This record gives sequence, structure tokens and C-alpha cells, in this order.
Amino acid sequence: MVTANRTASVRNESENAPQEKGKKHVQLIEKTYQSNVDSDYTDRLETLGKNFDYSKNSQHYWGDRELSTLYGTPLYEAASTSQKLALNHLYWVGQYQHTAASESNTMLYNQVTSGVFEKVGGYETLCSELDFETSQERHHINTFHRIGFKTKTALLGKDSFGNPLHKKLDKPAQKSLLSRFKLHLLNQPVQGEGLSLDALQESAFRTITKLMHRQQTSCYSRFLEEKGNTIPTATGGLAGVTASPSAFKFLTLNWGSSPFLAAQYYSARMIANISLKTYEYRYYKRFKDLEKTNEFIPTPTEVSYYHLLDEAFHTTMSQVISQEVYRDFAKPTAYEKLLSNVIIYRLQRGLMGGLSGGLPVVFRDDASFMPSFYRLLTSPLFDMNHEDALHWMEKCLCHEHDGFHVNLKYHQTQLSDLRRFFDRLDYLWDVNREMRLVAAGGSLERAIDRNVAAFAQFSKTVA
Ligand SMILES: [Fe+2]
Ligand SMILES: [Fe+2]
Repeated sequence: MVTANRTASVRNESENAPQEKGKKHVQLIEKTYQSNVDSDYTDRLETLGKNFDYSKNSQHYWGDRELSTLYGTPLYEAASTSQKLALNHLYWVGQYQHTAASESNTMLYNQVTSGVFEKVGGYETLCSELDFETSQERHHINTFHRIGFKTKTALLGKDSFGNPLHKKLDKPAQKSLLSRFKLHLLNQPVQGEGLSLDALQESAFRTITKLMHRQQTSCYSRFLEEKGNTIPTATGGLAGVTASPSAFKFLTLNWGSSPFLAAQYYSARMIANISLKTYEYRYYKRFKDLEKTNEFIPTPTEVSYYHLLDEAFHTTMSQVISQEVYRDFAKPTAYEKLLSNVIIYRLQRGLMGGLSGGLPVVFRDDASFMPSFYRLLTSPLFDMNHEDALHWMEKCLCHEHDGFHVNLKYHQTQLSDLRRFFDRLDYLWDVNREMRLVAAGGSLERAIDRNVAAFAQFSKTVA
């Protein structure tokens, strides 16, 4: 039975201030904060974003060729050099659009959880680091948006914004197609299903949260206190593939109500850190290679390089909070354990429970990307008619090809990084510590079967 009773005797959290607890992680946090403030590449990133001119970067690959949209598919093999360059650029833009949305989630939850650590007391440096990270993310997001906007405008035209399919479809046709396909996606277990909490009202969320954390009301996040009756929530990025905005309101309250859960949030953030690093490290490496040989370095490659340098500190913080700092607090209640496990389970399933055939280092089914692929193929870049676009989508998404195998290679790397991290969190269920849903997602056969079913649905809705 789930209860709010603490498994250890109730303790005054302030007694658990880090100075009473061994200095190792305290020193690491202080060192990380100082190093991050000293190095900080946000000004440089802002300047790179402001000065970005697509035409000056358009004739160069921004990353390894395999980091290209539709890489390894029959369409990629048939594409011209300029189309291959564009696919390499659009991949960068797509990945950093997702990163920007995830970093926007981070900005919110850094503040929610920092507000809890502030109440606990003794974590001033940790809170300063989290505030500093939040300000860095704002600059990062601006830079990604600037480059993304200019690149998409140059390659796909202004119609690529706010138009989920292509201008060749008239408005009623677009509307009907979208609503039918959305219905299909909502019926998918991963994309549309919340935590089955959507129906609950905010007042119920508050009541449950208060009841479950009644022993630690003094820890309620200062940030949330200042928000009054408003419960902030997250959309897009990592949150968008995990649960509904309504369910995220419930998580906001919980991450903002208990020191253990505030620290647990950083294990969810670590998934974002690891996911980003899986591809960003490739851009970092490319930058180093180009620098060594004195070759032209495209601006987006440079942005990835400096962003990784900023993010390295964020990753250290995610790791130290979720693996060390949480031990400063009373042991989790059965409720806190349950919620932590549900969160990681949902993240596994939503963010990494599949394998894309068209987007390398993306471990989700292609179903939700099908409208984007259709728009890409009917855009001026490929200029296909409706029949040709569907023909190539079927060829690229529903049959085995090199792209799937390249993605499987990245999947293995990410899976072992995740396992190394989660194996240390003893409050997690085996399915989470061993990342079993991610492991199951690394199946080519399953990915193709799911794409076949989703494509049949998509081609009917677009007909
Ligand atoms: Fe960032
Ligand atoms: Fe970050």
C-alpha cells in the first residue's frame, strides 16, 4: 500500500545540511560552480547566433554525414550533393529544436527544485549553480532558434513555419488530415497518453501532493510559493514525449514539495544530458578535427562545440544531485519511490522506447515524424508530388536499410551510458535500473513493424 509515512523516522531536513554529511559532493558542487562561471560560453554562443548567415555555411557539412535526416535510406543514396548538404543541416536544426524545448523544461524545473533546496538550507552554492544554469539555457535556446529559423527559411521557405504539412494541400484538407492523424497518435500508447491523471483538476493535484508530503510542508518550493495559485507546467522536448501538460502540473507540485523528489528530478534531467551528448559529442569531435587541420568551421558546428562545454557542468550537476545529494535527505517514502519509478518508466517509453529509421540518434517511432517527412519531400528541396512522396516514405521507413543499422549503433552507446548511470539508484525498479524498455526499443524488426502500421494509417489520412 502506498502511504506517505517515511521509512525512516521523521527528521528535520535542516539537520541534514551537507556540512554534517561528508564533504565530497559539497566540494564537487563548489568546484563545478566556480568552473562553470569562469568558463561560461553564453556570450560567444549569442554572438554566433546573431551573426549566423546561412549562405556562408551552406556549402559545408555541419556534422558527420551520418548525422543527416534520412541518412542511409534509399532516398539519401539517390539525393544530389546539395540535397545531402541540406539534410545534414536540417538534422542539426531538428535536433537543436528538440534540445531548445528540453532546455526550456530545464529552466522551469531548475527553479522549482532550487526553491526546495533553498528551504532545506545549506545548499546555497548548489542553488547559485542552478540559477546560473537557468540563465545559460536562455542564451542557448536563443542561439538554437536563430540558427534554426534562418536555416529553415533558406531551405524550406517561410511556409515551413506553422504549416504542419504543405501548402499544396488546401486549408480544409490540411485540417482534416491533421485532426485524423492526431486522433491516431492520441491512441498510441506513447504519444498521447498522460499519466492517466489528465482528468484530475489542479485542486485534486494539490490535495494529493499535500497529503503525500504532509511531513515536509516546510520544504514546499519558494519558487512555487511565489507563483501562488498558478502551477507551471512543461510542454515539448523531453516533457512532450513523456506525459501531458496536465500530468506535468502534478509533477511540478511533487518535485517542488519534497527534498528527495527535488533531487530525483535530476535523474530525469540526466536522461536529457545523456541523450544530448550522444550526438553533440560527434559535433564536438568534428570541431576539434577541423581546428587541427585549420579548415573552415561552420557556425553550427562551433555552436555545438561551445554548448557541449557549458553542458558538461550541467551534466556533472545532474549526476551529483541525483546520485549523491539525495542521500543527504530522509529515505524516500513508498509514494516517493512509486512516483520516481513511474517518471523514469514513462521517460524510457516516451523518449527512448523505439528506433527511428529516418532520424539518426532518435529512439522514437517514426509515426510522429511522418507529417514532417511528407512536408520535407513535397517542399521545394525535393519538390515531389503526393504519390512520389508517399512512395519514398514507404521505401525509407518500412524496410530495412543502412540508416536503421547506424541508429542501432548509437542506440547501443546510449543504452550502456544510461545503464551505467541508473544502476546506482537502488530505489528504482529493475525495469528502470536496467533500462529494459530502452533495450526493447532497440529492435529493427519491431521498429519496421510499427512503421508499417503507422504508415498505413498516415497514407489513408493524407489520401
Ligand atoms: Fe543548454
Ligand atoms: Fe543544460
